[in-house]
Amino acid sequence: MSAPKPAASRQPPRGDKKHLGRPGVFLETPLRNPQLNGHGELQHLLTIEGLPREILTRILDTAAPFTEVAEREVKKLPLLRGKSVFNLFFEPSTRTRTTFEIAAKRLSADVLNLNISTSSQTKGESLLDTIDNLSAMHADMFVVRHASSGAAHLIAQHVADHIHVINAGDGRHAHPTQGLLDMYTIRHYKRDFTRLVVAIVGDVLHSRVARSQIHALTTLGVPEVRVIGPKTLLPAQVERLGVRVFHDMREGLRDADVVMMLRLQNERMQGSLLPSAQEYFKVFGLTPEKLALARPDAIVMHPGPMNRGVEIDSAVADGPQAVILPQVTFGIAVRMAVMSMLAGN
Ligand code: CP
Repeated sequence: MSAPKPAASRQPPRGDKKHLGRPGVFLETPLRNPQLNGHGELQHLLTIEGLPREILTRILDTAAPFTEVAEREVKKLPLLRGKSVFNLFFEPSTRTRTTFEIAAKRLSADVLNLNISTSSQTKGESLLDTIDNLSAMHADMFVVRHASSGAAHLIAQHVADHIHVINAGDGRHAHPTQGLLDMYTIRHYKRDFTRLVVAIVGDVLHSRVARSQIHALTTLGVPEVRVIGPKTLLPAQVERLGVRVFHDMREGLRDADVVMMLRLQNERMQGSLLPSAQEYFKVFGLTPEKLALARPDAIVMHPGPMNRGVEIDSAVADGPQAVILPQVTFGIAVRMAVMSMLAGN
């Protein structure tokens, strides 16, 4: 394994230089995507935006046989033996952090979960100094969740060439492995992307998941992607992403094959964007009665964590059309696929 690059050889990233080395400074504009190497292969996984369809399809195809390993029907694979994967979660997580850990262990990696609340970040150490120190412990892969959009890009541009960075969610920018596991789930139940109507419902404005889903769906050839929500929770000019906009949920759900619900991201909202959670549920909550407007075989998805009675009724969340828990299980295989591809398998 080669040694980390000396600090003097590193170029400051293009974009917001104020962020470099200073913890907690919000990066407004994500940096240019450096996730493909000179051969057009994945070096890092930072965002789905700009990834070619072949790479998305290859990840989904690679994940398929891993489902047996993920479900423990087959023993561990040695694809990451001798590699160290560092989970760096600067924001809370249940599904992503745990499934990355399971995935890395199924591939025989050594997994280290840095406890941010007891790390030297609390003593003022900068993000990049933390990364340098973990690199000096021979890290091979960083899985990073951070409240600032662009944090994973910043790290990817900073680390030595042999280290891979996976974005596990940055601000409201991207959550690529969630987008990919959602695509895996849709392909599992619906087979063909090119005949589907997919409706994404809720707080698109603050959702990194929605952005990753939209980029993945349009890249994979879904002919109609709809976003449904109140004006205050949809980004300005969202239709430029190739989606149809609906403010009337009943209209937007009509004949949909896939309904993807989103949580209200209260932690990222500034000011009052909604009258109340109860009012929101009345208009945009997914109830059995509203779901009946979609196709009878429509599937209901949610990235979690769910807020029952806010964006989704329990009768739907626990109902026969929900595939919310299978999404979580597929996440293990998809994360195994991403890590093994990054490691050059
Ligand atoms: N979907 C998702 O990112 O869930 P967690 O926040 O639990 O990781």
